[in-house]
Amino acid sequence: MRVPVGRHRPRPVRGARRHDGGRSLPARPLDLVLDQGLGCGGGGANAMSLLRRSASWRDVTLTTDRLLLRAPRAGDEDGAAASVGHWEVVRMLAQVPWPYGRAEAVRYVEQAQAEMDGRRALHFFLVDEAGIAGGFGLAFSPVSLFAPAPVLGYWLSPDRWGRGYATEAGRAVLDHAFRTMKLKAVRSGVFFDNPASLRVQEKLGFEVVGRSEVFCLARAKTLSHIDTLMTRDRYFERRAEEGR
Ligand SMILES: CC(C)(COP(=O)(O)OP(=O)(O)OC[C@H]1O[C@@H](n2cnc3c(N)ncnc32)[C@H](O)[C@@H]1OP(=O)(O)O)[C@@H](O)C(=O)NCCC(=O)NCCS
Repeated sequence: MRVPVGRHRPRPVRGARRHDGGRSLPARPLDLVLDQGLGCGGGGANAMSLLRRSASWRDVTLTTDRLLLRAPRAGDEDGAAASVGHWEVVRMLAQVPWPYGRAEAVRYVEQAQAEMDGRRALHFFLVDEAGIAGGFGLAFSPVSLFAPAPVLGYWLSPDRWGRGYATEAGRAVLDHAFRTMKLKAVRSGVFFDNPASLRVQEKLGFEVVGRSEVFCLARAKTLSHIDTLMTRDRYFERRAEEGR
């Protein structure tokens, strides 16, 4: 499974940290491009010191007041299937098959681990006191000169909707993206008929930047899609306004 928002797709308990002080990620050439594009963080010297680090993306762990965000791992398959496998969830995701059961969750966990090992995507399961509540992903695979920002995607199990979890977890992931990874921008978006997710993105500070046509695998048709963007500058402006 992928964790897509829109046309693109868009997650360890060990060493858990607050999201605003999360573990720095080792950089690859992609990170250097993004870092240089920002003109932030002191440029080359910073990049080179990051390059020498060797932590795995599987070890990235974020915590919020109510949630632990950690990478998918073996043993998560039943919890993953239980959180994703609802028509009202899958219909809002671009590249997730329907029906969605344990086999799909097994594939997702394997794929997520491969993508993290290849540093093509960060994947988090959101864990609350009852177990896996949902997931977030930040997909770098489509990043290119023409699409110069990774894509944020997410879902919540319907029994966790309306608690503010998506907004809370989204803030933690964006903190990690902009403060630790020093990204220039993050893209996201929603299908035209997903006002709840658009509201989440508004609360996080994303701006609507356009419309596109995106194929929804579960609905087997192309749908109108609202494209959104969060830039690094906007992110820090908003955090300053919020006093964080
Ligand atoms: C979208 C989703 C992640 C939201 O999760 P959540 O934890 O309930 O979100 P939050 O509680 O943080 O915020 C939801 C906001 O949307 C609002 N909302 C809910 N339903 C709404 C609707 N039909 N129209 C407008 N706003 C709506 C809520 O009131 C809340 O805003 P508020 O805090 O200003 O009142 C969840 O509904 C979900 O998993 N949906 C299916 C998968 C999906 O859409 N993924 C995103 C793909 S783009």
